Amino acid sequence: MTEFLYEGKAKKIFKTDNPEEYLVYFKDDATAFNAQKKGTVLEKGIINNKLSNYFFKIIESRGIPTHFVREISDRESIVKKVKIIPVEVIVRNKVAGSMAKRMGIDEGFILKYPTIEFSYKNDELGDPLMADSYVVALGLCSDDDFNTIKKYSMQINEILKEEMLKAEIILIDFKLEFGKTSDDTIILADEISPDTCRLWDAKTNEKLDKDRFRRDLGNVEGAYKEVLKRFLQ
Ligand code: TMP
Repeated sequence: MTEFLYEGKAKKIFKTDNPEEYLVYFKDDATAFNAQKKGTVLEKGIINNKLSNYFFKIIESRGIPTHFVREISDRESIVKKVKIIPVEVIVRNKVAGSMAKRMGIDEGFILKYPTIEFSYKNDELGDPLMADSYVVALGLCSDDDFNTIKKYSMQINEILKEEMLKAEIILIDFKLEFGKTSDDTIILADEISPDTCRLWDAKTNEKLDKDRFRRDLGNVEGAYKEVLKRFLQ
């Protein structure tokens, strides 16, 4: 039996018979600019469910705990129940998106080392960027948890960069969310997909991610399908 719990912009969450597990349903809905722009990307839910599970399994196998339990259908997975820490972690390898705009630097500039930044997960405020010191000072998580999140995020960057490169994709940047289980363990939650990463073709620099939707570049479905194909077909 499943009981509806919450609907986000790209996913729905249901309770399951197991009090420690939720069911996640991936929708085709796409939003950008804090949901001011809305649309549908055909089969995005299926692609993101499968890709996210693929990456979470690799991350878990490298010793970083994740919420992934099992895939139960094209669009549905069982995940561990967590309380989401309201911090969006953004790791960047090359300049793009909001960093390019804020700093006045061309997209594609290679950073001398990966950067990590934090946004407050709050739709009403439009997920504002925070100084690192806000996270613990505001009580969004403990100092220990923050250190764990930072360590895991940088490790995940190395794992993902390597995996993407095997598929001839450059990992430009990505966003992670972490949660806490009932036994107080920090684990990776939410998703890793073309919705939450910038992925450029290694040969052509073609954008293979949600920027195609955000910027009306066309062939959004084709780009998502291409990413799926490079990993899972
Ligand atoms: P940004 O350059 O717009 O700050 O985005 C950085 C990365 O975070 C990019 O890979 C897209 C991802 N992202 C999300 O997953 N959700 C969001 O709401 C935003 C703004 C970005």
